Parts: sequence; C-alpha cells; structure tokens
Amino acid sequence: MRRHDVVVVGAGLAGQRAALAALEAKQDVAIVTKLHPLRSHSGAAQGGINAAIGKEDSVDTHIYDTVKGSDYLGDQDAIEFFCTEAGATVIEAEHFGTIFSRAPDGTLARRPFGGAAFPRTIYAADRTGLALLQGLYEQLGTASPTIYEEWDLTSVVVRDGRCQGIVAFDRRRGTFEEIAAKSVVLATGPAGRVYGRTTNAHTCTGDGIAAAYRAGAALKDMEFVQFHPTALLESSILITEGARGEGGILKNANGERFMVRYAPHVQDLASRDVVSRAIVTEVREGRGFPGSYVHLELMHLGKERIESRLQEICDFCRTFAGVDPVVEPIPIMPAQHYMMGGIGTNLRGETNVPGLFAAGEAACVSIHGANRLGGNSLLETLVFGKQAGIAAAKHAGTAPAPEVQQSDVDAEETRVGVMASRTVGEEPQHLRMAMQATMDLKVGVFRRPEELGEALTEIRALKARYDHVRIVDTSKSYNLNLTDALETGNMLDLAETIVAGAIARTESRGAHSRLDFPKRDDATWMRHTLASKGRDGPVLSYAPVAYTRWEPKERVY
Ligand code: FUM
Repeated sequence: MRRHDVVVVGAGLAGQRAALAALEAKQDVAIVTKLHPLRSHSGAAQGGINAAIGKEDSVDTHIYDTVKGSDYLGDQDAIEFFCTEAGATVIEAEHFGTIFSRAPDGTLARRPFGGAAFPRTIYAADRTGLALLQGLYEQLGTASPTIYEEWDLTSVVVRDGRCQGIVAFDRRRGTFEEIAAKSVVLATGPAGRVYGRTTNAHTCTGDGIAAAYRAGAALKDMEFVQFHPTALLESSILITEGARGEGGILKNANGERFMVRYAPHVQDLASRDVVSRAIVTEVREGRGFPGSYVHLELMHLGKERIESRLQEICDFCRTFAGVDPVVEPIPIMPAQHYMMGGIGTNLRGETNVPGLFAAGEAACVSIHGANRLGGNSLLETLVFGKQAGIAAAKHAGTAPAPEVQQSDVDAEETRVGVMASRTVGEEPQHLRMAMQATMDLKVGVFRRPEELGEALTEIRALKARYDHVRIVDTSKSYNLNLTDALETGNMLDLAETIVAGAIARTESRGAHSRLDFPKRDDATWMRHTLASKGRDGPVLSYAPVAYTRWEPKERVY
C-alpha cells in the first residue's frame, strides 16, 4: 500500500504551497493531481495579487476593503490575518522566482482593482497566476515530493472519526489506488463547471469539495457564486479586471458609460458583484447590443500600453472573438468565475473532520464572505496553502498510523463497475450539459424564487438520472468517458448545495442577489450557511460570522 505522512490533492498554487510547507516540516509528502502541476487552473489567473505595499496604502485599508467587499460576511479575524500576511507572501513569491512587472522606478508595479481604495494589485502583465506557479514549481522541484500525476481523487477515507487517506483513479493504468495518509490536504480548486458560462477550465469540477462533502465535511456558504463582469462573449474567456485597472471602460449600446449610474465614485472599478449586476441590468433594460452584451473599451489606452500590460487578453480577443482591442471594443458579459463557498475551514485549513485540511478555492475560510475582491484569490492560495501545509504536517507528527483498506478501493471499483456494465443508461455529458443550462439560466447574477425552485427540482431530477449513468467507452487507459461520469456526479452534488443554500437565504448580500428580497438582512442573515450531506440531499445549518472591529455599513462604491 502507498503510504505518506501528508497527501496534498491538487497541484495548483494552494496545493503546491501546502506541499512545500509540509516538506519544510520534514514530512514525507505526496501530491495527487489530475493535471501536470503547471497546467493547473491557477495558471489562468491574469490580473494580479493584492498586498498593501504602496506608501499611501495600509494593511488596515486592505482589511477594510476586503470586509466591505465581502458584504460583511467575511470572518474578520481571518481577513486580518490574511491581509497582514500579504506583503511577506508577495516578497516570498518574488524570491521564489516570480518575475513581476515593474514600475519605472524599479519597484513592484501595482494596478487598481475593483473595490480597493488604492492601487494594490501586483502583477506579471496579465499572466500573474502562471508566473507565480512557475516560481513555486521550481521550489517544489528542489524539495522533491512524490507526485501522482493524472490521478483523479474519488474518495476521502474516514475511519474511526478521522481522515486516513484517499482513493484515487490512475488514468494511465485505469486502476483505483489507495493512498494512506495521516493528513490529507484538499487543494483541488473550484467547481465552476457546474455552470456552462464560466471562466473556469474544463477541469474545475469540484472533485475535492464533493469528496469532502461525501466524507462528512461541512461545506460553507456555497450559495455565494462570483460572476466576473468581463468575460469574452460566447467563449466566456476571462478578460482581466486589470483591463479596467489600466483604464478600460464599459459602455452600453447607447455609447453611455453606464457605471456612472451604479457606482458614482469608482465607476468601472466597483466590486465585481456591483459591476456584474449593472451589466445584466443594462442588457435586460434594452441598452445592450443585439445578441445581449456590452462593450469594454481599451482603444483610448493606446497600442503600446495595451500590448505590453495586457498581452494575453489581446491574443484571446483576436483568436477567440476576432476582435482587436487596440482598435475595437471587446464584447463582454458576466460569467461564473469564482466560488466564495467551499469546504469549511479555520485559519489553519482544518475542517470538521480530523486529519482533513483544505486550502485555496476548494476551501472557505471565510475571507471573501459574500463577494471576493479581485487579486485576493491568488493571495489566498499562498497564504492559506502554507497554513494548511503547516497544520497538516503538525497533525501528521502526532497522528497514529493510517489505514486504507481494500474495501475502500473495492467500493470505488464497484461504483464505477456498475456504471460501466450498463448496456442502457444516461450519457454523463448529457447530464452535465443539462445541469449547466439550469445553473446558467436559473442560478445566475439575479435570482428569482420560482427559478431557484425549478433549478432545485431539475438538479434533483438529474441526480436521479445519474443513478443510471453509463460509461460507454471500454478503454482501460485514459478513459475520459469515465472521468466525465465521476466529475458529473461530483458537480451534481455541489450544484444541489448551491441551489439549496440560495433558496434558504432570503436576503441579498454580495453576489447572492434575490429579486424577492433585494435588501441585506443583517438581523437574520449575518451568518454562514453550512451544508452537510444528508440521506436525501444537503442538510443546512448556520454558524456565526467572526467580528473584530468593522461594523456593518451600507456598501457604496
Ligand atoms: O480579473 C482578473 O484578472 C481576475 C482576478 C481574480 O479573480 O482575482
């Protein structure tokens, strides 16, 4: 049997940083990943990473902006820790080898981002995630963890009330394998692909979140889904907020700079929930372009600035939309981008299951509350990846020897065997596409009670159909039909938690905007939603928000 002190699942920034911290604590560490580490979705992060390093800025201002951005649902103790760690974290990343863009005086260049009082977002052109990933991967290379690459997590093993390892599917050999571990860190990223219109990679299917949920971990605040205001029309490829940070402006079909009406002080650089709602409102009220979109204009910035600071998005626009941002506006609409919710953890990445930790977008600490600020996600991966790695290593130092039994593997083989042996049944891709259509149409930027109700019924019907899912491909090696079936099952469970949480929360807060309850209701809803897996779906309970010194106020931008 494979056996390690610490197993980290996921090799994006949070997973790599957790692994590095556990390796530094002298533990035997393995990484299990469905992708080569440098192909992780962290590499798609464009605009930058926040740290209050400017003379005019302060850690307190970063904390306040994040609390306000979260619509007062973020845990203030966690946010204070997070923002306090930011400066050292960015400098560490630089020392790891990240090549950040520079200001003319040689200091780290910073650009304004939405919801931030000062330019605070440090960047590497519009490839910041990739630059960070490369630097961190070099460090990891010298520390040499065992890496199980192209392995899918299928279950977290919990026995005697504690996590004792995982079962994973080795795509190349086509076999289920057990890995015993004293500590398991889930850093498997988001589940953005529950939506069809998303900036997330096809691999973002919430495998770790779903496995944790099935294993008894509570998911926190799943109803809070972030829609990025500027995704390229049709493909939904991210057009970084950095484009507006560099001076890009949004215009409707009447040529109006409409953000003036929604956020008079900061306009295009309001927080993402505000800008997304504004764009959708413009289109719904008939001020969008035919085909339902608005324009992001960069032309006034000039060719040199656009092509040097926003190289990647120039390529994306030219290749995927046939539009040259140097001379033409970019057609955009909001698309799902980030999940504020995830596996509930504390500051150290500990979940409610002893021995099970989580970090990055798979986790919910919660620092983002009801709405995340751009640039805080990359920071989160590094700050809380490290904390989870340290805590996992410490736990492994005292935990008894773990045990994963053959029956754990047999259970997974049986689950898939049943799907593969069906001669009639549902194709997973049909269920996936139906789920995505439901989520796009009925659980979007604005939420109506009747549509949420329909969405829950539809997702539950899809879950029932999933009981008859069929894997048609009989290949042993790289059977992506099987991967599709596993991922689709994971996403259906998570879609249900999103919708159930959204139905229960009868208020509007941050990215959760209910047309029937348009106001924030602090008296009733200043609390986190916890979703635990019950026999017939999620069982919801609630937990208080941690306060330190920031009184809830109306959010105005
Ligand atoms: O717009 C962006 O570049 C995305 C950044 C983020 O989500 O933090």
